[in-house]
Amino acid sequence: MMAASPTVSGSLRDRLMITLIGGAAVLALLLFFAVRSYAVQVAQQGQDSILAASVTAMLDAAAIRDGEVEIDIPYAAFSMLSTPSDDRVFYAIYQDGAFLSGYNDLAYEAGKPLGVRSFQSGDVRGAAVRQVNASRTLIGANRRTEIQIALAQTQDAQSQTLDRIARNAAFLGVGFFALTGLLSLWASSVTMGQLNRLTTSVTRRGPQDLSPFQKPVPQEMAPLVQSLNSLMGRLDQSLSQSEDFIAEAAHRVRTPLATVRSYAEATLQRVKREENREAMRSMVRAIDESSRAAGQLLDHAMITFRADHLERETLDLRALVEDLVLRLTPIADMRDLSLAVAGDADVPFAGDAILIQNAVRNMIDNAIKYAPPDSTVTITVNAAPKPVIVVEDEGPGFNTDEIATLAGRFQRGSNAADSIGSGLGLTIAQDVATAHGGHLHLSNRPEGGACVSLQLSS
Ligand SMILES: Nc1ncnc2c1ncn2[C@@H]1O[C@H](COP(=O)(O)OP(=O)(O)O)[C@@H](O)[C@H]1O
Ligand SMILES: [Mg+2]
Repeated sequence: MMAASPTVSGSLRDRLMITLIGGAAVLALLLFFAVRSYAVQVAQQGQDSILAASVTAMLDAAAIRDGEVEIDIPYAAFSMLSTPSDDRVFYAIYQDGAFLSGYNDLAYEAGKPLGVRSFQSGDVRGAAVRQVNASRTLIGANRRTEIQIALAQTQDAQSQTLDRIARNAAFLGVGFFALTGLLSLWASSVTMGQLNRLTTSVTRRGPQDLSPFQKPVPQEMAPLVQSLNSLMGRLDQSLSQSEDFIAEAAHRVRTPLATVRSYAEATLQRVKREENREAMRSMVRAIDESSRAAGQLLDHAMITFRADHLERETLDLRALVEDLVLRLTPIADMRDLSLAVAGDADVPFAGDAILIQNAVRNMIDNAIKYAPPDSTVTITVNAAPKPVIVVEDEGPGFNTDEIATLAGRFQRGSNAADSIGSGLGLTIAQDVATAHGGHLHLSNRPEGGACVSLQLSS
């Protein structure tokens, strides 16, 4: 019996990998942007404090001499601004808002609270600059004036540093991503390994093994294993219940029918009037029919059950057939038929003896039923190329247009009209062959008569 394959929706491993690798990618990006923005902030603070120190040095150099404002900018004020990329510096000095010296296109922007240094980013002559604005009040003899200085510096060195940091941050992010990618691969294969181990131990079991799983499993899989175990427990119980039921039913149906039949038979001996005898004969026939039908139905149920849980043991097919022939000879004798066994001397085979016996008995039963009196039924057992048991008779054979369907359940041929039967004999034989990996083949012998071969496979 083929198990229906389940509907598959995605893969756990893929989902796990996508989640882990997706998470790693987001984290790597976050890391990159965090490092970069922190670097921008630090670099800006560095430049701002140098600009502040420089503007303070310039303001400190301002003084009122002879009523005039004089600013002698110290060399240090500019030298502290020098950078490896030779960033350009612009300054503009205003007195009470009036341009005094420097670059007059550099505007002074007062800080919000007056006198506080204010920083801003802008551009001067097409170059991006960072600018500081600071002022100082000078007090001279009966004079008070305010000096305002705007000092700006281009940002080439800073942006070079930032580029370098961004590159390093990108390397860091990629490295982090690769590492977490590897870790996710490892994590998902470890997790899947647990599942695969359970799957292997389920698939490795034989079809009869319904014992619970004992091996330790991870906590998350425990409920699954527990329900599997309880499912198998119930299955085991219901299987043994149905096996018991079939055996019990067979016994309970057959025994009273046999009793009734023997009473009827005995009564038939005593009855003298022909019409009563005729009635008794029909009764015996009806009992035979129902006991045979019941027997075959139960046999069929038993065979379906055993075929599903095939238990093979080594047996000799030749011996099995000879044993059967011995038991069926009295029945054959009643019809003046002789049973002959031919073929190989011993044919070892691993299979279920009860099933094979049942199949061959049904095949011989048919031959006895359909063959004419005074003929021979030959049962041939061969070992090669594959074990096979062939039952041949000298009767009318199969109807060629029915041959394909006769092994179906309850199928009886048109030649079966006045014989007792339920149409399950060939079905049983076929099920037994299939359970052993073989098949049942029906044909007519060229010289007349049916030929049924039960082909088995080890
Ligand atoms: N040896 C045989 N010779 C002729 N016909 C046969 C033979 N065996 C089986 N058949 C045909 O195949 C049909 C199915 O056989 P089977 O399944 O054993 O049912 P049953 O014997 O109960 O009718 C029979 O009804 C009969 O028509
Ligand atoms: Mg039959």
